[in-house]
Amino acid sequence: MPDKLKQIQGELQAAIQKCADLRALDGIRVKYLGRKGIITELLKQIGTMPPNERRDFGRQVNELKQHAADAIGSRKAELEAAEAEAKVSQEAVDVTLPGRRPIIGRKHIITQTLDEIIGILKGMGFAVAYGPDLETDYYNYEALNFPPDHPARDMQDTFWIDETHLLRTHTSPVQIRVMEQMQPPVRVIMPGRCFRNESINVRSHVMFHQIEGLYVDEGVTFGDLKGTLYAFLQTWLGTDVEIRFRPSYFPFTEPSAEVDVTCILCKGSGCRVCKHTGWLELLGAGMVDPALYSYVGYDPERYTGYAWGLGIERLVMMKYGIEDIRVFFQNDIRFLEQF
Ligand code: FA5
Repeated sequence: MPDKLKQIQGELQAAIQKCADLRALDGIRVKYLGRKGIITELLKQIGTMPPNERRDFGRQVNELKQHAADAIGSRKAELEAAEAEAKVSQEAVDVTLPGRRPIIGRKHIITQTLDEIIGILKGMGFAVAYGPDLETDYYNYEALNFPPDHPARDMQDTFWIDETHLLRTHTSPVQIRVMEQMQPPVRVIMPGRCFRNESINVRSHVMFHQIEGLYVDEGVTFGDLKGTLYAFLQTWLGTDVEIRFRPSYFPFTEPSAEVDVTCILCKGSGCRVCKHTGWLELLGAGMVDPALYSYVGYDPERYTGYAWGLGIERLVMMKYGIEDIRVFFQNDIRFLEQF
């Protein structure tokens, strides 16, 4: 073999040995065997040579070509095997490492509380009913004895969807929906979300939850209302909690009361949450105003009833000593995972 070809073969051999990956190897293949590669150019020269040199030179260049193709091929196989092995060991799972514990979600404290309260009240003989968050003016106000344009509507301003649809301000509309559906005796609780267009502060939000209670039958008295609420609140908050009924006004109850408990946060000495009174209002309550019975077709001479609406967030604040209602809706996992 002429020196020139020997030199090319030597260089090729060295380059193949040195090359560390498939991309570099392909570069070598192109450099020697590509369309304008060193060996390809030599092959082209064969035709231009005098016939006596042509045969030997042609054979030698073809041998070189064959050698180059074989050497590149076997190096390619080696590199492919090495790359596959590296990939396997990179992706290998170390079975001796300790496992990662997946984060398991849980019910929001408000949902947990509603579940517990529903459990207690079911045990006291109440059935559960639900109504829509998006209500009509009729159920949220009119059938609850809030006449159109009556100032009592200002007690509960809301977000209107159109002229007649709104986000309900309380769970009381479900009272009407339930009474439309069934005859007394009615003993039902109605949990759900409520919305009000009012300023947000430590004890009030634009979105909150209530649970409504309604009991209508022959001979239901204010004493039944008090007894039920005392029993329920003391079961949930503890027997040492002080409870007071304060006269109030709602268009759909007569007489009406607001029910407060001693503020657990300041133990009654006064703080931001209880407006420095030592008491926090948890419920509105009263005897069902007979005017409502005309909307649902009950005989007001025969039946009496009581109703109440309890704010869930405030109840939870009192149970766990939470100082700001906003934390329920901020989705801070450090707060939520405490429950
Ligand atoms: C009512 O909503 C009446 N529907 C309750 C009622 C039902 C009275 C049946 C008579 C018969 P009030 O607006 O007072 O009443 O709200 C009741 C409770 O819901 C409050 O005591 C409070 O605990 C809670 N609440 C009311 N507004 C908010 C608010 N913006 N943020 C958080 N909790 C609230």
